[in-house]
Amino acid sequence: MATHLPVIGGHAEGFGKTQRSDGWWVGPGITFAVFSTFIVYTTWAALQGNHYYTDPYLSPFYSPLIFVEPNSLAHGGAPVDMAWFGMWPSWFPHLIPASPAILILVFPGAFRFTCYYYRKAYYRSFAGSPPACAVGPLTIKRKYKGETSLLLFQNLHRYAMYFALVFIVLLGKDAFESFFRDGQPGIGVGSLIMTINVVLIASYTFGCHSFRHLIGGRKDCMSHCGKETIALGSFKQATWFNSRHMQFAWMSLIWVMVTDLYIRLCSMGVIHDFNTWS
Ligand code: FES
Repeated sequence: MATHLPVIGGHAEGFGKTQRSDGWWVGPGITFAVFSTFIVYTTWAALQGNHYYTDPYLSPFYSPLIFVEPNSLAHGGAPVDMAWFGMWPSWFPHLIPASPAILILVFPGAFRFTCYYYRKAYYRSFAGSPPACAVGPLTIKRKYKGETSLLLFQNLHRYAMYFALVFIVLLGKDAFESFFRDGQPGIGVGSLIMTINVVLIASYTFGCHSFRHLIGGRKDCMSHCGKETIALGSFKQATWFNSRHMQFAWMSLIWVMVTDLYIRLCSMGVIHDFNTWS
């Protein structure tokens, strides 16, 4: 039906067409570059199976250690007694590298991949559909059907979040243990890097939309007779982290790479860890 009202909104149609004159492509471009670097580096590091440990530092990509290949000890691997279930199993397919990281990275990987913020970021930067507000899509224009068919798995985010909470505990334990070498308390640059890593990952996780919903967002009222309850206080804390979710998403993503790289270079003898033990 024809309307006499003026049309508000809309944008130029067509591949990358827009009337915007600002640098709308900078955000998606940086996202593409950083995210691609992360995927390439993480995949490479996870497949190495070596130089992920130097006492008392364990790379976050390899924690927790489920099984350990004993021969990796000579190449920067962890001792077998650090693994939850001991030696790398002989029944494991030989085509897959004997790397403890490949057994666990699916959990934090799934958490990031299905994150509400990252979805927006990589839908824009990788699919370009659309790459930014008021810019024509870079891919074939299709009717948006929500995350129902192809993207149905994105709804698993809340379950990935439960695993992410466990990883905070595991990485927190690693960070704590990084202040002890052979039972001697001390501190090294690696201890600080690992501690910052778990703080950033926890800050990212506590700002998760699913986490915020879990601890209170699903309720209509959290105060009691006008008084603040623990639930309301926790919800406010989660809201603080939630409003900074994008910042913590990027900081924790980059820092976890830095942490692995630092431990890897120390383990290879390329750099020296300044610490109070040596
Ligand atoms: S929404 Fe980003 S981690 Fe859950």
